[in-house]
Amino acid sequence: MLRKLLSYFGSDVAIDLGTANTIVYVKGKGVILNEPSMVALALEKGGYGKRIIAVGHDAKTMLGKTPGQIEVIRPMKDGVIADFTVTEQMIKYFIKKLGSRKSFFSIPPTIVICVPCGSTQVERRAIKDSALAAGARRVELIEEAMAAALGAGLPVSEARASMVVDIGGGTTEVGVISLGGLVYANSIRIAGDKVDEIISSHIRNKHGLLIGDTTAEEIKKQIGSAHPSADNGEMTIRGRNAYQGLPKEITVNSAELRDSLKDTLDQMVTAIRQALEATPPELSADLIENGLTLTGGGALLRGLDILINEETGLKVNIAAEPLLCVAKGCGVALDYISDNRLYLNRIK
Ligand SMILES: Nc1ncnc2c1ncn2[C@@H]1O[C@H](COP(=O)(O)OP(=O)(O)O)[C@@H](O)[C@H]1O
Ligand SMILES: [Mg+2]
Repeated sequence: MLRKLLSYFGSDVAIDLGTANTIVYVKGKGVILNEPSMVALALEKGGYGKRIIAVGHDAKTMLGKTPGQIEVIRPMKDGVIADFTVTEQMIKYFIKKLGSRKSFFSIPPTIVICVPCGSTQVERRAIKDSALAAGARRVELIEEAMAAALGAGLPVSEARASMVVDIGGGTTEVGVISLGGLVYANSIRIAGDKVDEIISSHIRNKHGLLIGDTTAEEIKKQIGSAHPSADNGEMTIRGRNAYQGLPKEITVNSAELRDSLKDTLDQMVTAIRQALEATPPELSADLIENGLTLTGGGALLRGLDILINEETGLKVNIAAEPLLCVAKGCGVALDYISDNRLYLNRIK
């Protein structure tokens, strides 16, 4: 155990601070932490202020099942920091979890953290300060789209275009990269969470059943699909009858969910189209040859690649281990930084 902790000595760390999941990658070790970006808060006795009672997996298991004094929040929801203090506490908690306080703080590492393209300077500063406060010697921030491309193994430093579409929980990031820089970057607040929301409201409106966020996500993973060729049958679900308040069971199928998701998926496709329209002609030509690459958990929605291919005409590749791309990409960025190959568009 001690040896394990000591082995983090001086290791450099990459953090994918996602809206849904936080993933920590350590050079030479790979992914060593992968937890929901969630925090459970309890009201202090007397009602003054709130206290953190759980973070990550522990907080997620409480979701939708808490009594009045406890709430589970996602401080990064929508790709921006909704709550600075809680985000800072969450970063500290995860960093602390990497090793004992002593070993970690004695030689604080360089930490690379990725931030959504749409985040403001104030938010970026806040993330950086939280990591410094947690004991990092140096903190580098890189844009999510760039990290996703690096993690997907795209040839970002070459003089040809690579396009990456990272679909997370809160945001979809679209980036076109050439010669190590983002030629185009855009972030829209439509991604996995929005899909869950639409599924919940469809089931409430059509079937009169109330379900929680966790169930909505489960339905999406099991029978959600973006294209008829990726239909995945039906599923029985349980929840609370919206009218009588009693527990109820219904069957939902893949096709009805697909219909309800049409507008949301169209918005993602539109964001990709806008990126294509804004790409300089020489680079567009490269995209016809290379296609685009999907990363992030949203890339796992069945048939999304087929839909995007049909709507844009581009070849669509799904990255290997899409959920881990950004974290791995931050890890690759660590190497570029230590080699002084600083062609990355780094954020101050
Ligand atoms: N098999 C799957 N099918 C569809 N969506 C999925 C699947 N697995 C995960 N997701 C979704 O991916 C999103 C999380 O992706 P992630 O890249 O970790 O987001 P973030 O970077 O914002 O933390 C969630 O909305 C989750 O529901
Ligand atoms: Mg992400």
